[in-house]
Amino acid sequence: ELPFAESFRIKMVETIRKSTREEREKWIKEAKYNLFNLKSDQVFIDLLTDSGTGAMSDKQWAELMLGDESYAGARSYYKMKNTIREILGFDYFLPTHQGRAAENVLYSTLIKEGDILPGNSHFDTTKGHIEFRKAIALDCTIDEAADTQLEIPFKGNMDPAKLEAVLKKYPKEKIPAVVLTVTNNTAGGQPVSMQNIREVSALCKKYGVNLQIDSARFAENAYFIKTREKGYEHKTIKEIVKEMFSYADIMTMSSKKDAIVNMGGFVAFKNEELWKKCQMFCIMNEGFITYGGMSGRDMNALAQGLDEGTEFEYLETRIRQVEYLGAKLDEYGIPYQRPAGGHAIFVDAKKVLTHVPKEEFIAQTLGIELYLEAGIRGVEIGSILADRDPVTRENRYPKLELLRLAIPRRTYTNNHMDVIAAALKNVFDRREQIDRGYVITKEFPIMRHFTVELEPA
Ligand code: F0G
Repeated sequence: ELPFAESFRIKMVETIRKSTREEREKWIKEAKYNLFNLKSDQVFIDLLTDSGTGAMSDKQWAELMLGDESYAGARSYYKMKNTIREILGFDYFLPTHQGRAAENVLYSTLIKEGDILPGNSHFDTTKGHIEFRKAIALDCTIDEAADTQLEIPFKGNMDPAKLEAVLKKYPKEKIPAVVLTVTNNTAGGQPVSMQNIREVSALCKKYGVNLQIDSARFAENAYFIKTREKGYEHKTIKEIVKEMFSYADIMTMSSKKDAIVNMGGFVAFKNEELWKKCQMFCIMNEGFITYGGMSGRDMNALAQGLDEGTEFEYLETRIRQVEYLGAKLDEYGIPYQRPAGGHAIFVDAKKVLTHVPKEEFIAQTLGIELYLEAGIRGVEIGSILADRDPVTRENRYPKLELLRLAIPRRTYTNNHMDVIAAALKNVFDRREQIDRGYVITKEFPIMRHFTVELEPA
């Protein structure tokens, strides 16, 4: 058999520049040890996020030229509408400028103080929007997700028993939606099985509550269903996607991931009434209902991206690159959330930096070390991100301290993956010498990780 190769070739490139360790030491200090504060030119390989950082295709760029910028009723809106109906099966939608804006429009309509929204590791902006409205995001992820070395195929699943306990405990009026995130970003880009989606949906129906699928990486999730779940191996990605969403009432979408655009999102509904209720907040915060937060050209590129992003060959190329990086780390014995996720490798920082106390932010410390080593920028998924408890204001220390290395779509080559792995190995080899982390000098009351300022402990 021949070796595997990418299902694309490259017709436009962007220069990136290496730096010296001295330069990086100066820059990270100036950035107050917050990787978000670095200039992108100070970064060689940028793995901060896979969101909006992918490479659009020739067909997507061509679609930009065909965009209709009419204020109301633009052709681009109808193109997006038809694509969402055909591929995802939702009749109603509102375009928004990105995923969190979709959450804002939806939750402004749905959530009231004291409500409960169970989910599988809500993403940070989702949780932020819930807690900002004095509602509660209850985590019902399966316990196995917290054991980074355990290899199971669907580690992103929601625990139906935990969910049912919540649904039993509170009246349905207090539960505006169950939020199922596919793939489960926070747990490591881990997929949710079709069986789990079906079970969660059945519970939602039984207790009369909405099922909202947070869909940022739905296509990657479908790839894992096809390659790991019995009965789906001969279905196309588009067939699997259709089935996944057949169980949902609402979807929120950050199109910056699996629709492979640089900006954009939407919220889609099966129910016409709810769509109408949400229109007011869309008009107030985003824009008129046929463009929301988006330009016509961007709606065109998004529609094209949804089509490309649900093709098997594209997904295989994408996910095999993440697996390739995982396999390199295996070679070096570096622990990460197993198996490799759809969009990222999540390095288990607690298992690497065993001498750094949790109060000094273990995963953040590893992220800074990797940047100093080779100009590679990951992101902390640990206690800085976990924020303070909204009630007690105490720091929350999650079970896992992870350094996420998110791989942008169609952007880097496997040579870059080799450099990332080698740089991590260098840090790993000197892990015993790293025993001090960082302390916070400045933070916001909510979602502090974006702007937090730190200094060496
Ligand atoms: N839901 C999930 C699962 C996400 O991963 C994100 C964003 C959002 C919602 C919000 O979407 O950024 O378009 O407003 N995740 C990015 C990340 C930022 O780096 O994981 P957005």
